[in-house]
Amino acid sequence: MRLLFVALTTITFVGISAFAVTHRENGSGNISLSNEDSLEADRMKYMNEVMASIKGREKMQADSVFKNLKVIKGESSVSAEHLLWMMNWGWSAELGVSCSYCHVIGKWESDSLGTKDIARGMWNMRVKINKEILPGITGMNYDKNPAVSCITCHRGSPIPTAK
Ligand code: HEC
Ligand code: HEC
Repeated sequence: MRLLFVALTTITFVGISAFAVTHRENGSGNISLSNEDSLEADRMKYMNEVMASIKGREKMQADSVFKNLKVIKGESSVSAEHLLWMMNWGWSAELGVSCSYCHVIGKWESDSLGTKDIARGMWNMRVKINKEILPGITGMNYDKNPAVSCITCHRGSPIPTAK
C-alpha cells in the first residue's frame, strides 16, 4: 500500500516536473495552485513578483527575457512563464525548499549562492541521464517513457543522502 502511494506520488510529480507544466489562473491574473504545501504561499509570492516584473513578455522564450540563463538556453518550448513554473514545481517543490534556497530574493540573476550553480549541474546531469544514459540501458520498457527528474532522487529534500 505504501509502495503504491509512493509510486503514484512519483508519477504525479514526474508528470508536472517535465517541460509540460499545467496551471490555472484566477480572475485577478495572479496564479493559484491546487497542490498546496507549506512553502507554496512563499513561492507564489515570489512567482507573482517576477511575473509582474516581466508583464507582457511572459510568453517569450525564457532566455530572451531573463538575464543569466546558462543551462536553460535555446529551448524554444520554454517561455519565461514556463521557466517560473519549472522553478516552482520542478525545482523548489521537488527539493522541499523555497526560492531563497538558491536565490538572493529580488536579485534573481545573481549567482552568489552556491546552491544555484549546483542546481545547474544537476540539470545537466538530468538531461544527460535522460538523453544518453537511460536510452542505452537494454531490456527496459521504453513505452512508459522512463525519465529521471529532481524528485527521483530528492523526494522533497535538498540533500537526498541525508538519513
Ligand atoms: C534548486 C535551486 C533553485 C531554486 C529552488 C529556484 N531557482 Fe530560480 N534559478 C535557479 C538556477 C540554477 C537558475 C539559472 C538557470 C540557468 O542558468 O539556465 C535560475 C533562474 C531563475 C530566474 C532567471 C533570473 C535571470 O534573470 O537570469 C528567475 C526569475 C528565477 N530563477 C526565479 C525563481 C523563483 C521565483 C523561485 C521560487 C519559486 C526559484 N527561482 C527557485 C535555481 C533555483
Ligand atoms: C541522480 C540523483 C539526483 C538527481 C536526479 C538530482 N539530484 Fe540534486 N543532488 C543529488 C545528490 C546525491 C546531492 C548531494 C547530496 C549531499 O551533499 O550529500 C544533490 C545535491 C543537490 C543540491 C545541493 C543541496 C545542498 O544544500 O548542498 C541541489 C541544489 C540540488 N541537488 C538540486 C537538484 C535539482 C534542481 C535537480 C533537478 C534538476 C536535482 N538536484 C536532481 C542527487 C540528485
